[in-house]
Amino acid sequence: MKLHAIDHHPIGMKTPLQYTPMIVALLTLGIVLLTIIPLYCPQLPPLEWKIFDPSIFSSSSSSSLSSSSSSSSSSSANVSDLKYEKSDEMCDIFTGEWVPDPNAPYYTNETCWAIHDHQNCMKYGRPDTEFLKWRWKPNDCELPLFDPTQFLELLRGKSLAFVGDSVGRNQMQSLICLLSRVEYPIDISPTSDDMSRRWFYFSYNLTIANFWAPFLVRSKDAGANGPTYTGLFNLYLDEFDEDWTTQITEFDYVIISAGHWFFRPTMFYEDGHLVGCHYCLNKNITDLTFRYSYRRAFRTAFHAINSLENFKGITFLRTFSPSHFENGEWDKGGDCVRTRPLKSNEMMLEGLNLEIYRTQVEEFQAAAKEGRKRGLEFRLLNTTQATLLRPDGHPSHHGHSPHANVTMHNDCLHWCLPGPIDAWNDFLLQILKMEGGELSNDKFYK
Ligand SMILES: *[C@@H]1O[C@H](CO)[C@@H](O)[C@H](O)[C@H]1NC(C)=O
Ligand SMILES: *[C@@H]1O[C@H](CO)[C@@H](O)[C@H](O)[C@H]1NC(C)=O
Ligand SMILES: *[C@@H]1O[C@H](CO)[C@@H](O)[C@H](O)[C@H]1NC(C)=O
Ligand SMILES: *[C@@H]1O[C@H](CO)[C@@H](O)[C@H](O)[C@H]1NC(C)=O
Ligand SMILES: *[C@@H]1O[C@H](CO)[C@@H](O)[C@H](O)[C@H]1NC(C)=O
Ligand SMILES: *[C@@H]1O[C@H](CO)[C@@H](O)[C@H](O)[C@H]1NC(C)=O
Repeated sequence: MKLHAIDHHPIGMKTPLQYTPMIVALLTLGIVLLTIIPLYCPQLPPLEWKIFDPSIFSSSSSSSLSSSSSSSSSSSANVSDLKYEKSDEMCDIFTGEWVPDPNAPYYTNETCWAIHDHQNCMKYGRPDTEFLKWRWKPNDCELPLFDPTQFLELLRGKSLAFVGDSVGRNQMQSLICLLSRVEYPIDISPTSDDMSRRWFYFSYNLTIANFWAPFLVRSKDAGANGPTYTGLFNLYLDEFDEDWTTQITEFDYVIISAGHWFFRPTMFYEDGHLVGCHYCLNKNITDLTFRYSYRRAFRTAFHAINSLENFKGITFLRTFSPSHFENGEWDKGGDCVRTRPLKSNEMMLEGLNLEIYRTQVEEFQAAAKEGRKRGLEFRLLNTTQATLLRPDGHPSHHGHSPHANVTMHNDCLHWCLPGPIDAWNDFLLQILKMEGGELSNDKFYK
């Protein structure tokens, strides 16, 4: 594979590596997100910018494949004996490999109506199906396949909320599809707002909802064009986003995630004052970069949760979901055409992916410490590493009709359904089971 685009990519590697396909991660991803968002935000104007502030990416950072790639695993799944043993209790379920699962997938676009069109890769003609046939295998134990009945029984009479952007919603739709073998929910959304929905499983008295909060904190659309014709947002980095913080008190489980929106041109407010910006291209305003807003947004979001007097739920952080553009930037033919997962020795979590991952985990750990003082529990859905190894799981150009007029042709950021993102719900169920006492494993997940 040719890697020319990376040469002039601000986060690209300095030395071109032969036989070393490389995945351009974050910068590209940030820009691309900008272009994907209009799909969900019709009010946003079409996106045309091609530039990006290289200064924020001055450190060399990209995800790379080591040349010592071993042949792919041939270990085969035996799902009939995936039972828990006492000895699995200390197993780190997030460290492992993808292994073949000939029985997958466990739903299709015909059995599940909850798949968003842009993630319905089979509908739009994705020709290969091998990417559907893998499951996550932790190194030291088994991660059981998702058992919908078990999930619904565990969460009987409970409620679960996803707070975040379209990748968070992507996980919710995966969950609805995984559960669809047992029951479909009914839509009990209080508003017609397509971005935030509320679903109810009648037989199980279970509510699943998503709250649209791409910045986690209060934000305001400050101009359709902005400095780069991609919009401009005011972020009130120390203010709660009441669209969700006033709603989640009643929820038993809240899954927080965020990422790619922070790459947009944004103005930062604290204590009501403008303190800086990210890529606002105004010499009078300090460009503090998205690193500043990203950390503070998580801090404020977790602080909101810890300060909700009547909230008694368990808070999850679902860690950053890397994108995978290869052979070019998002607007220069970059694509994700692989059809198989990578092995853990083929790709390292590094560069900006690692930095972003660490930032949110640090804020998460600080919040968990604080929350524990008042009896609140926090859990990590540490999905970044497993997700990093799935460049084959994105829609690419199979997220829309070939004739559609979309700004971003190849989506290497969201996840096909069915697809690797289903494993995030395998992780979720596993942790919920531990909560349920089947495996009490507080040591590991705090
Ligand atoms: C799978 O597990 C079953 C039950 O433990 C066993 O009988 C069978 O031989 C196993 N198959 C493989 C391929 O390991
Ligand atoms: C998350 O998983 C990665 C990959 O296995 C591991 O290296 C890291 O230590 C985990 N992070 C935490 C906070 O448990
Ligand atoms: C599902 O995918 C098939 C191709 O595998 C396609 O023909 C069909 O239209 C899709 N159905 C739905 C409901 O998306
Ligand atoms: C359903 O669950 C809610 C909590 O989510 C509870 O207050 C209510 O009593 C439950 N209803 C029934 C019929 O079990
Ligand atoms: C920066 O500040 C100066 C002095 O107040 C003002 O004249 C100028 O228009 C400002 N520039 C921008 C881009 O806002
Ligand atoms: C695609 O959409 C853009 C913006 O809405 C428009 O300017 C352009 O003419 C469209 N192109 C085609 C081929 O329809």
